[in-house]
Amino acid sequence: MELLLKEMIEKNRPLTSFGKVATYIPELSNVDSNILGIAILDKEGQLYKAGDYDIKFTLQSVSKPITLMLALMDCGKELVFDKVGMEPTGDPFNSMRKLETLNPSKPLNPMINAGAIVATSLIKGNDNQEKFNRLMDTFKKISNNSKLAINESVYLSEKKTGDRNRSMAYFLRDVGILNGDVEEILDLYFKQCSIEVNCVDVANMGMFLANQGILKTGEQFAPKHITQIVKTFMVTCGMYDASGEFAINVGVPSKSGVGGGIMCAVPNRMGIGVVGPALDNKGNSVAGVKVLKAVSEHLSLSIF
Ligand code: DON
Repeated sequence: MELLLKEMIEKNRPLTSFGKVATYIPELSNVDSNILGIAILDKEGQLYKAGDYDIKFTLQSVSKPITLMLALMDCGKELVFDKVGMEPTGDPFNSMRKLETLNPSKPLNPMINAGAIVATSLIKGNDNQEKFNRLMDTFKKISNNSKLAINESVYLSEKKTGDRNRSMAYFLRDVGILNGDVEEILDLYFKQCSIEVNCVDVANMGMFLANQGILKTGEQFAPKHITQIVKTFMVTCGMYDASGEFAINVGVPSKSGVGGGIMCAVPNRMGIGVVGPALDNKGNSVAGVKVLKAVSEHLSLSIF
């Protein structure tokens, strides 16, 4: 299996030249665009890896399904979906154009930036530090890596330049969707996006969702119905305005991030972590998506 993955990585690595690393978060522009790696963790605990699987990258939007999960565990379905919708947008991940025209004025789903910021705002804790600690503990548990930490320079870089997210968050408070201190909510959001991982960590996270919220230890950490909601969003909105094409070509609940990561949860079978920081024009890893297509075809992973 590792030989096969190695072949897939090397065959698709040249495609990285067709993508571009994200530059709107200045610190991300320093990343090597040739990177491509994969790790697969199956239900039996077997780990398969190839390419740059151990390179560190920041989760960025790959964090969104997990903060949604925590918000649902903290506040319940009714409250969460009172503030954020359940529908795909067909717009880019950072788009704000529908925010004002929709009635009620709430983000269409929790995978786009506006909706993810709302989900983050719903995480419970007495202060921001406690909220961050709860979030970090969750990521550490589900990635099976107690050493996870944030990349300070990526965090500070986005905090300094994230005016688009800032403007959406202030707008959302104005219309009553976001409650509380906007800068504190954004600080937590920028931190969750800056959590540093490798493909093995992400494969563990995917396996946790694939295994319906059960940790490696056997503990039911998140309720099954919440992980079902999360995986459904990964299918319908996880790859943004390329989610339909990805569902046809790969057919697996997945979530991408502008750090180049993709997390996949193949229900009851495996978790997959991919990294390839060269992105296509929708913000998804250009070569990573192709590797996943090859893996899905080879292992018949489509859930459809
Ligand atoms: O909020 C942002 O713009 C980034 N921290 C995360 C965006 C992202 O990863 C979109 N994914 N493709």
